Amino acid sequence: MAEKKGIILSGMRPTGKLHIGHLVGALENWVGLQHSYDCCFLVADLHVLTTGFEKSAEIPANIHEMVCDWLAVGLDPARSTFLIQSRVCEHSELNLILGMITPMPWVERNPTLKEMISDLELTGKIHFGLMGYPVLQAADILLYRANLVPVGEDQVAHVEMTREIARRFNHLYKPVFPEPKAKLTSTPRLPGTDGKKMSKSLGNCIYISDDEEAVKTKVRQMVTDPRKIRLGDPGRPEICSVYSYHAIFNKPETGEITEGCRSGKLGCVDCKGRLAAAIGTTLDPIRQRRKAYENDPLKVKEILLEGSKAASKRAAETMAQVREAMGMDY
Ligand code: TRP
Repeated sequence: MAEKKGIILSGMRPTGKLHIGHLVGALENWVGLQHSYDCCFLVADLHVLTTGFEKSAEIPANIHEMVCDWLAVGLDPARSTFLIQSRVCEHSELNLILGMITPMPWVERNPTLKEMISDLELTGKIHFGLMGYPVLQAADILLYRANLVPVGEDQVAHVEMTREIARRFNHLYKPVFPEPKAKLTSTPRLPGTDGKKMSKSLGNCIYISDDEEAVKTKVRQMVTDPRKIRLGDPGRPEICSVYSYHAIFNKPETGEITEGCRSGKLGCVDCKGRLAAAIGTTLDPIRQRRKAYENDPLKVKEILLEGSKAASKRAAETMAQVREAMGMDY
């Protein structure tokens, strides 16, 4: 690998099209990091099975949609490695080994896993594989001896646990793994169009691939300050979702919009029109680039298979070191 500042690994579960929360919360960050780090972008298909094992047949189409979004926003397979988790079988092998040295209480108290279990109402219906979610994620990161893991706030607990597992392995056997650090974005979390957490299951997402009409319609339906009912009523930008979007997608106009909203001169209809236009400015070039891949699933597949092959080399080197450190290099 080239002379860069270090190795980055991040990933997402392929559950379909990505939304603009992914764009500002993660992807823009990933795109920028490609220039100064060796980046691996992981399609975590095995992680999908931890909760969605009965829908495995939907995974290929979901991978296609997600990776089209990755390519459209500017992740570049000429610079970075795109890989499919299940295609590099060392992920499963290292997962098994790390599971052996991970005390059960570490997993049981992992707040991200607990939240996932309660969000999906899985209490009492948990499968063995789901408990292994953070260990598999640790294997993803440590397999490439990554230094940095750019993730959202919700994933920090998993990266923390990865550090603990790395430390434990290095201490028990030999130092093989660097302790990876989480790298957070500064962008605040984008709410959904209804003000709740943006999530596919709540139907409140604006997708990266939405066309102009879809964006307009969704923005029009967004909730604003309930006390601002008609033009002339003063509004409170600090509690308005539309405003929180302006602050991210329409920085140059935020001063003017704050003033117009507070004074009542700017009505919500106009304000939403300006937001839809600003989101359009961000999404237009992305939609253009996406077109080149959307109808070419073979091209996308080729990128993933090539990347997985390249990743396998480094993964095999790590596993050789793991076996040697454990004294199991028969
Ligand atoms: N758990 C991550 C998510 O849901 C996806 C993921 C799997 C991941 N393996 C990873 C993220 C390794 C960073 C590093 O978004």
